[in-house]
Amino acid sequence: MTADIAKTLSAPFPGIWDRCYVSSKVKTDPLYGAVHDELGGSSLPLLDIGCGLGLLAFYLRERGLSFPIRGLDYDERKISSATKVSAALQCPEMDFATHDARQGLPEHAGNVTILDILQFFTPDEQQTLLGLAASRVAPGGKLVIRSGLRDDSRRFKITVFCDYIAKASFWMKAAPTHYPTAEDFERALSPHGKVRILPLWGGTPFNNHLIVMEK
Ligand SMILES: C[S@@+](CC[C@H](N)C(=O)[O-])C[C@H]1O[C@@H](n2cnc3c(N)ncnc32)[C@H](O)[C@@H]1O
Repeated sequence: MTADIAKTLSAPFPGIWDRCYVSSKVKTDPLYGAVHDELGGSSLPLLDIGCGLGLLAFYLRERGLSFPIRGLDYDERKISSATKVSAALQCPEMDFATHDARQGLPEHAGNVTILDILQFFTPDEQQTLLGLAASRVAPGGKLVIRSGLRDDSRRFKITVFCDYIAKASFWMKAAPTHYPTAEDFERALSPHGKVRILPLWGGTPFNNHLIVMEK
């Protein structure tokens, strides 16, 4: 099934690099399946902050989830690509907009995702974004985050190294700024709801964790 989804989702992307990236992400990274499992029982709209190429949105639609999805990212190229692919895949109730999450968040009440972007924010910006995102979660909804956690593991060192490679190769506009600790998430999110933190690295060498706040 994963190979079929990877083929369907990568095909509409115009460049070979994006097609290979999408295909390998879907095949090797447990992220999108984990978010699908967290949001599968919900009909609330989703705000995906730092949506990149819109892969989460396309993956959730392909797996049959039909709630409205809005993706935000400050990289215009990725938003333009996500918008075109959404039209090609004929995804209803899905839209993408260019937006810098450091400038605040639009009105929203539902579920919220923040996947692999917090490392680009300073500690203060992270706390602000987490507070704003938590305030957009509706009762019964979830804030689902993936982040590399700062600790003294080898996995953490590999995570930092690869984020610098992503910047050097121009895949990312920015180099990593700061990685939060598990305690940072507990402190910022536990006033808003119940917090769970679980390892989520699958077959990757990274120190990735899934952080879920349930309101
Ligand atoms: C590693 S990618 C993850 C993309 C997507 N969340 C996913 O998991 O497929 C990080 C994304 O965060 C975006 N990003 C970084 N800083 C941002 C900011 N201040 N506002 C909005 N997006 C940002 C980048 O442009 C990039 O698309």
